[in-house]
Amino acid sequence: MWKYNVAMLLLWVFTLCIILELKVEAKASSHFEREIEAKLKLLNKPAVKSIRSENGDIIDCINIYKQPAFDHPALKNHTIQRVPDFLLKSESPSRENSLNASSDVFQTWQKSGSCPEGTVPIRRILKEDLLRVSSLDRFGQKPIEPFFNSTTTNLNFSSLDADASYFNNRSDAHLVTLGYNYIGATANINVWNPKVERPEDFTTAQIWLKTGNGREFESIEAGWVVNPKLYGDTDTRLFAYWTKDSYKTTGCFDVTCQGFVQISSEMALGSTLQPYSAPFNQQYEINVGIFMDNGGNWWLRVKDRIMVGYWPAELLGNLRHSATLVQWGGQVFSYAVKTDPPHTGTQMGSGDEANGRFGFACYMTNVRIKDYSKSLKYPEYVHTYAAEPYCYNALNDVQYGKDPVLYFGGPGRHPPYCL
Ligand SMILES: *[C@@H]1O[C@H](CO)[C@@H](O)[C@H](O)[C@H]1NC(C)=O
Ligand SMILES: *[C@@H]1O[C@H](CO)[C@@H](O)[C@H](O)[C@H]1NC(C)=O
Ligand SMILES: *[C@@H]1O[C@H](CO)[C@@H](O)[C@H](O)[C@H]1NC(C)=O
Ligand SMILES: *[C@@H]1O[C@H](CO)[C@@H](O)[C@H](O)[C@H]1NC(C)=O
Ligand SMILES: *[C@@H]1O[C@H](CO)[C@@H](O)[C@H](O)[C@H]1NC(C)=O
Repeated sequence: MWKYNVAMLLLWVFTLCIILELKVEAKASSHFEREIEAKLKLLNKPAVKSIRSENGDIIDCINIYKQPAFDHPALKNHTIQRVPDFLLKSESPSRENSLNASSDVFQTWQKSGSCPEGTVPIRRILKEDLLRVSSLDRFGQKPIEPFFNSTTTNLNFSSLDADASYFNNRSDAHLVTLGYNYIGATANINVWNPKVERPEDFTTAQIWLKTGNGREFESIEAGWVVNPKLYGDTDTRLFAYWTKDSYKTTGCFDVTCQGFVQISSEMALGSTLQPYSAPFNQQYEINVGIFMDNGGNWWLRVKDRIMVGYWPAELLGNLRHSATLVQWGGQVFSYAVKTDPPHTGTQMGSGDEANGRFGFACYMTNVRIKDYSKSLKYPEYVHTYAAEPYCYNALNDVQYGKDPVLYFGGPGRHPPYCL
C-alpha cells in the first residue's frame, strides 16, 4: 500500500511536470509564431495579382504606392520617382569585344504571367524563409564582421587590399577602381550557377559602389547570387543590396527590408534568372548598371533598358553625393574561408579559375564607370585583387585595341592548391 502511494505520487509529479513544460513550450512557440506572422504581414503587402512560378516562387503584384519601401521612417515624405533624370551616353567610338554571348536572359516567373501596369512584382516571403534564419531581426542581411581598425589613412589600392583581407568570412576576387567621384557603374555579367556546398554560404557575381574605407563604408550592390539560406534553393537569382553602416544594422538583400523603391513591373528582385551558361556551350550574360540621378537617388538598371527601381537618397549618407570606389567581381561568404582546412567547396563564378577564360570562367565585359563628365567610360586606374588566389582568382584580360575582359572565380577547395 505504502509503495503504491509513493508510486502514484511520483506519477502525479511526473505528469504535472510534463504538463507545465508543454505549457511553457506552447507559450514560447506561440510568441515566436506571432513574431513570424507580424514580420510576414509587414513584408508581404496585399497583392493585386499573384503569379506562381514553376520554380516554386510566388510573385505578388503590389500597388506601386503600397510597396514595403514606404514603411521606412526616412521615406515618410518621399515622392516616388517614376523615371530618372539622367541620360546615358556611351563613350565613342565604342570599343567592341568579340565574345559570342547571348543576352536573352529572363526571369523564370515571367513564363507564368505578368504584373499589371501600376504594380510591381515582389517575391513573396514565406514562413519557411523566416524559419531558416537565426534571428528574425537580421532576416535578409549579410552577417556582420567584427570591427577592426583600418590601416587606411589615404585610400589606395594596397590599403584597400589590406582591409579586404581582414574580413575573415568573405573571400573576394575583384577588379577595383578609385581616384575619382563616381556616379555610376555598369558591366555585362556572365550568368552561371555555381555550387554552394554549405547551407549558410553564398556566392555572388556583382558590382559594388562604395564610399568610406575598408572598415566603415556605405555600399550599394547588384548582380546575381546563389544563396540557399535566404531563398531556400540553389537557383541563380538577380539581387540588390544596400548598407549605410558596413552591414552592421542597415540594409538588406532585395526588398527583404524597407528601403529599395521598385518601379519596374517586369523584373522582380531576388527572382531566378535563366538560362545558365555551360562550358563548351552558349554563354549568357545580363547587363547590370547602377546610376545616380540629380537628387542623389541611385537607380538599378538591368538589360540596358529596364529601370528596376532605386535606392532613395534618404537611405544614404555620403553615398548620396557620389561613390569613391567601384568593384566588379565575385564574393564567397562562408565560415570556412581564410581559416584552417577544410576550405569550403562553394564555387565562385562558374567554378572555374579565371585563366579558364571565355566559355569556362565567369566574365564581365563592358566594364564602365560614369563620372561627372556624364559619359560611360572604362575606368582609368584599375587593380585586381584576390583574397585567396589558390581558391578564387581574378584576371583582367587587356589586349591592344580590344575592350578589356574581367575573368574571375574558382572552385573553392581543390587539393593540393586550396585545402
Ligand atoms: C516630413 O515632413 C514633415 C513636415 O514638413 C517634417 O516635420 C518631418 O520631419 C518630415 N519627415 C521626414 C522623415 O523627413
Ligand atoms: C582602434 O583604434 C582606436 C583609436 O583609433 C583605439 O582606441 C582602439 O584601441 C583600437 N582597437 C584595436 C582593436 O586596435
Ligand atoms: C597606401 O596607403 C597606406 C596607408 O594609408 C600607406 O602606408 C602606403 O604608403 C600607401 N601606398 C601608396 C603606394 O601610396
Ligand atoms: C566569422 O564567423 C565566425 C563564426 O560565426 C565568427 O566567430 C567570427 O567573428 C566571424 N568573423 C571573423 C572576422 O572571424
Ligand atoms: C556563337 O555561339 C553559338 C552557340 O555556342 C554557336 O552556335 C555559334 O556558331 C557561335 N557563333 C560564332 C560566330 O562563333
